[in-house]
Amino acid sequence: MANSFIGPVLGIESSCDETATAILDESGRVLAETVHSQEREHAPFGGVVPEIAARAHLACLPDQIRTTMAKAGLTFAQLGGVAASAGPGLIGGLIVGSQMAKGIALAQRLPFVAVNHLEAHALTARLPGLLPDGAPFPYLLLLISGGHCQCIAVEGLGRYVRLGGTIDDAAGEAFDKVGKLLGLGWPGGPALEKLAALGDAAGYDFPRPLLHRDGCDFSFSGLKTAVARAVDRHPPGALPQAVAADIAASFQRAVAQVLADRAGHAMAMMRARSPTARLLVVAGGVAANGAVRGALTQAAEAQGFQMVAPPVRLCTDNAVMVAWAGLERLRRGWTDGIDFAPRPRWPLDEPGMDRNAA
Ligand code: KG4
Ligand code: ZN
Repeated sequence: MANSFIGPVLGIESSCDETATAILDESGRVLAETVHSQEREHAPFGGVVPEIAARAHLACLPDQIRTTMAKAGLTFAQLGGVAASAGPGLIGGLIVGSQMAKGIALAQRLPFVAVNHLEAHALTARLPGLLPDGAPFPYLLLLISGGHCQCIAVEGLGRYVRLGGTIDDAAGEAFDKVGKLLGLGWPGGPALEKLAALGDAAGYDFPRPLLHRDGCDFSFSGLKTAVARAVDRHPPGALPQAVAADIAASFQRAVAQVLADRAGHAMAMMRARSPTARLLVVAGGVAANGAVRGALTQAAEAQGFQMVAPPVRLCTDNAVMVAWAGLERLRRGWTDGIDFAPRPRWPLDEPGMDRNAA
C-alpha cells in the first residue's frame, strides 16, 4: 500500500569506507548531507582494513548524524523514517550503521528500512533532477565500483535481474591494483586518470579480456597481469614517468573499451527483455573516469540508448542514495523489522526484494 505522507527520511551509509548521512524530504529533495571518506585511515595499508573501517564509522557517525540533523534544521521527532545500508559490505560497518538507525527508529517509533547498498546505487538515477522526472523503469544499470562490476536489468522497485558481472576483479579494483603497480597512492583510480592524461594510450597494446564474447561478463585480471609484465621490464623503483604515463593511458583505454563492449552486449540483452528500455545508467566510482564515460556514451548511442551517470558525488558511496532507496520503499509501505540482521553478502536479484511478489 502506498503511503501518502511520509516526512523526511534519514539515510546512513557505512558499508565500506565512506561514513555518510543524508536527509531527504519526502519529495526526494536533499535537505542536508555529510560524507566522510576514510581514505586517510586506510591509505597506509594500500586498501580498506575492515576493523579500522568499523571503528572509524563508530567514532564518526554519532557526531555526523547530529551535524546533518542540525543542517537540515530538524529534530529526530520530525523524521518520517530511518534507512541504513544493511548489506552487502563489510559486516563491522554494516552493524554500526544499521544499529544506529535502529536505535533512532526505536526511540522515535519510526519505520526502519534495511537498504540493500546495490539497490541504492541502482535507484540513484530515479532521484528527481537527474532526468526531468527521474529515470523511469525499466533501465539497464552498469555498476562499476571498487567492489562491484555488474550489469543489472532494473525492471521495477525490488525487481532486478543480473545480466552479467565480473568473473575476477571489479573494474575499480583493477584501477587500484594497476595504480599500486605504478607507484600511485590508494585509491588508484583518480591518480591513474591524472597520470594517463600525460601519456599515449596507443603506447602499449594490452589485452582486452572477453572483448566481443557473448554475454556481458567482465574480466580484468589478465589485463592487470599484462601491466605487471610491462612494469617488470624496468628495474624496481626506476619506472620512468613517461613510461608510467603511457602504461596508465593504455590500461585506461583497454578498460574503457572492454566496459563499452560489455555494456553494448548488455544493452542488446536488455532490449530483448524489455523492448521499451532506452536508458543506460552508470554508477560506482569508476563512472567518474572521463575515458570510461566517453566510451560508454558512444556505446549507448550505437545501441540507441541514452547514457546517464549521476554526478560523481552520487556515483561514489553516499547516503543520499540510501535515503532515497528508503524513501522509495517507504512510499510503498515496505519496511523492515528491528531484528533485521545485516548481510555481508546480499545479491540484488534474490527473491523477496520485491515485496509485491513475496
Ligand atoms: O563506488 P566507490 O566510491 O566505492 C566502492 O567501491 O563501493 O568506488 C571506488 C572505486 C575505487 O576503486 C577507485 O579507484 C575508483 O572507484 N575510481 C576511479 C576513479 N575515481 C574513483 N577509477 C577510475 N577513474 C577515476 N577517476
Ligand atoms: Zn558502493
